[in-house]
Amino acid sequence: MPPRDAIALVVLVLVAAGAGSIIAFTLKLGISPMPTSPKVRVTMLSLVPSETRGVVHELGAGWGGLALALARQCPHARVVAWELSWVPYAVAATRARLARLPNLEVRRADFFAADLREASVLVCYLFTGAMRRLDEKLRRELPGAPLLVVTNTFLLHGWPEERAVVVDDLYRTRVVRSVGVPLP
Ligand SMILES: C[S@@+](CC[C@H](N)C(=O)[O-])C[C@H]1O[C@@H](n2cnc3c(N)ncnc32)[C@H](O)[C@@H]1O
Repeated sequence: MPPRDAIALVVLVLVAAGAGSIIAFTLKLGISPMPTSPKVRVTMLSLVPSETRGVVHELGAGWGGLALALARQCPHARVVAWELSWVPYAVAATRARLARLPNLEVRRADFFAADLREASVLVCYLFTGAMRRLDEKLRRELPGAPLLVVTNTFLLHGWPEERAVVVDDLYRTRVVRSVGVPLP
């Protein structure tokens, strides 16, 4: 086989494997690595105080755009970005390395298995089922711990909403900041 054909074949196999991996993780996790839109991202960032200290967890980091922005927004905090899907994780980790942000760590791991007891802030854009599971985890593992949670579209039901912003976009996306402990 001529070298050019061999290279084309390798590229094709890699692209197919990458696409297959993204589809497989989307089916497994119930959500694709769809990023938060720039308009919604600006709103989410506006609800995370820049003087935040401690640990900011981004639960499901996708391609890393929001994680990078959070690390820039909160220079005194450590941002931990969790992502299970290999391809978005690799992109997010590479972006983090290139950006040289000392306060950003991208982890390829399941955030449902994470110890979130040290969390100051949680940021997420997930889906109803994952938010229900997250709510159960937080109530079980952080009973009474005051926490700031910023959500895109899907809410942590029963958590006191401190601020809600409807973004002026096509979907009228609702971004909510909850502060405190969940209501029973
Ligand atoms: C809709 S994307 C959001 C991406 C990013 N947070 C943003 O807002 O731009 C949700 C991401 O969460 C990841 N995810 C879902 N469940 C996860 C889990 N249990 N652990 C780690 N990542 C998870 C998915 O792979 C997907 O990339």
